[in-house]
Amino acid sequence: MTLAVLNHYMPGPLKQAARTAWQRQQMRRAMRRLVALPPGTTPERRLLDELRAAWDNEGFTADIDYLAEVARHAAQTPGPVLECGSGLTTLLLGALAGRRGVEVWALEHDPQWRRRVGTALRDHVAGQVYLWLSPLSDYGAFDWYAAPLPLMPEEFRLVVCDGPPDDTRGGRFGLLSVIGDRLPPGAVILLDDAARESEQDAVRRWTHAMPFRVALRRLPGGALAEITRC
Ligand SMILES: C[S@@+](CC[C@H](N)C(=O)[O-])C[C@H]1O[C@@H](n2cnc3c(N)ncnc32)[C@H](O)[C@@H]1O
Repeated sequence: MTLAVLNHYMPGPLKQAARTAWQRQQMRRAMRRLVALPPGTTPERRLLDELRAAWDNEGFTADIDYLAEVARHAAQTPGPVLECGSGLTTLLLGALAGRRGVEVWALEHDPQWRRRVGTALRDHVAGQVYLWLSPLSDYGAFDWYAAPLPLMPEEFRLVVCDGPPDDTRGGRFGLLSVIGDRLPPGAVILLDDAARESEQDAVRRWTHAMPFRVALRRLPGGALAEITRC
């Protein structure tokens, strides 16, 4: 009997279980290759593609160009990393920065999603990541993560900004008000979805408040911005 015929007769729940098991195996395999890279090495796009497919969260996961930028910076950054909005990017940061001894702090507002990412970190990544449950909180003019500021590093060299979700009051603007004084010259913010009106507005307001150099890269599905503190 061919696989296609077997597949046809397999009941739905069994099919789903088989798919989940297959995806887990793909994830294990790809993560093993990622953590086997020598420290400081940027993974190839092909490996990122495999990770993205195995992670299986199409609607929310950053596209491949953003993942490639996150991986490139994570492999090289000398200092602490802050992530806003967790997911596959958190695994990349843990594997490429955390395992080099660089502190990684990830803020996540959704308890259920935090559980999924936390389980994957435990299963696949040996490096230290502080994946912090940070509900979206009222900061007056905007909402943003309730970050555990007293516990966090005094400086971040890299910020991976792919949250909070775009229906948050003020969008991603709050990052600079809450964390801005922890960004030394040379610190880089990688902003996903940078072509959206709310993110463009945030960048405009950030550059008025602080000296930044902004490099906008148009992508097939939007844009990413590399924003460097001058
Ligand atoms: C754009 S996602 C972050 C994705 C992450 N940077 C990545 O590339 O994997 C922003 C937020 O969406 C939420 N989210 C991610 N996947 C989700 C899912 N499958 N269902 C519901 N919310 C999800 C999480 O709260 C997350 O912090």
